[in-house]
Amino acid sequence: MGKILGIAIKNYGSLKNIKMGKLFSDQTGDELGNMVAIIGASGNGKSTLADAFGFISDCLSADVETACDANNRGGYDHLVSQNSNEPIHFEIYYKETYNSRPITYELTIAKDKMDRPYVKEERLRQRRPGIKRGWPLSFLYLIDGKGYAFEGVEGGQDEDGSVVGDKKIVELSDTRKLGIVTLGAMKQYSRIEMFLAFLKSWYLCYFAPDAARQIQTAAPVQYLNRTGSNLNNVAQYMYRENPGEFKKILADIQTKIPNITKIEPVKLQNGQMVLQFWQQGFEQPFFSQRMSDGTLKLFAYYLLLHERNPRQLVFVEEPENGLYHQYLANLAIEMKRNVGTGFLKQLFVTTHSPFFVNALSPDQVWVLEKGADGFSNAKQAASYDFVKELVDEGASMGDLWYSKYFG
Ligand SMILES: Nc1ncnc2c1ncn2[C@@H]1O[C@H](COP(=O)(O)OP(=O)(O)OP(=O)(O)O)[C@@H](O)[C@H]1O
Ligand SMILES: [Mg+2]
Repeated sequence: MGKILGIAIKNYGSLKNIKMGKLFSDQTGDELGNMVAIIGASGNGKSTLADAFGFISDCLSADVETACDANNRGGYDHLVSQNSNEPIHFEIYYKETYNSRPITYELTIAKDKMDRPYVKEERLRQRRPGIKRGWPLSFLYLIDGKGYAFEGVEGGQDEDGSVVGDKKIVELSDTRKLGIVTLGAMKQYSRIEMFLAFLKSWYLCYFAPDAARQIQTAAPVQYLNRTGSNLNNVAQYMYRENPGEFKKILADIQTKIPNITKIEPVKLQNGQMVLQFWQQGFEQPFFSQRMSDGTLKLFAYYLLLHERNPRQLVFVEEPENGLYHQYLANLAIEMKRNVGTGFLKQLFVTTHSPFFVNALSPDQVWVLEKGADGFSNAKQAASYDFVKELVDEGASMGDLWYSKYFG
């Protein structure tokens, strides 16, 4: 459970200083909702934003230097905003459930004396139970790998140094690794463990139909990977965990994919699971490998929305690629319906499609623009003149965007 109410990013490529939603350090603006669409002209930083989420994910499974080099990032010097002498910085404002106290996570990545990227500063803060105002207490604070942490669900240190609860002095042996990864592996640091579990559940999705056509091993896998190449393995997992429920999911998905009348799982002799699709006009089914790119993609998105124990934050890049434009409004409606308003799931989507955006409201759409300095600015569509009023009068967001009312 959990979602981010806001995020600020500094010095990450074209994102020299952007803020989306509400933060502890800047409470202006609305909290981010469960559906966040990001639009903007080419080069305005949409993929950079998706990659910033991916970078944070990568920092959990590798050291920060490896994360700077991974996924074509080209290393710290190419990653950090040009002309900036400041380090890369993230601030995430997170809440686990409706009633829980928000947590602020700050992470600064800079270069050490040896010119290698390292974790310069890391901090987690939360207010004490029942306290609504004032500064939250730091329950993890590390500078250059040295600092303190607090066990349990309360406690922390105030700005003036006063301590509530049991303070543990911490020194990391490797400053290229995140403190939350080291400490979050220990049960006693339950808040850090919970926050780490939230970050670990993030998922970046770049579905590629060709990848989904590859023959996979027979192993069941819980979650779709970045390209969707393990589609059949995930289907196998869902079937194994609960065949009745999986068949119901397939029956539901089938109603959303045009021209498909039935989808059924078939177990092969070697244990592998394949999916059969019945298509309008044909008596015999087709294996998933024979389906069109768009059909496979739609299927993968809908399967993603139905994953058991869903990932809490999913970032989808340009779902419109390879999809017939008329399918996009329905996909957006289904995504919106699926994430709901609670704390189970949050979906970020970059898009160039007015058809997709037509299904959204002004508070769900964020525009990345380029300023005169060449860096990106993020602005909620609701804050453009007339947009809210026109939508209240019945205009659609995609149409307004196309007509240049915003974006
Ligand atoms: N270190 C850096 N400092 C400043 N700007 C950078 C840095 N590295 C890359 N850029 C710029 O950031 C931009 C990245 O654009 P990005 O790929 O995020 O755009 P996009 O909105 O996804 O575009 P598209 O719609 O084409 O996919 C490019 O204009 C690139 O020149
Ligand atoms: Mg892009």
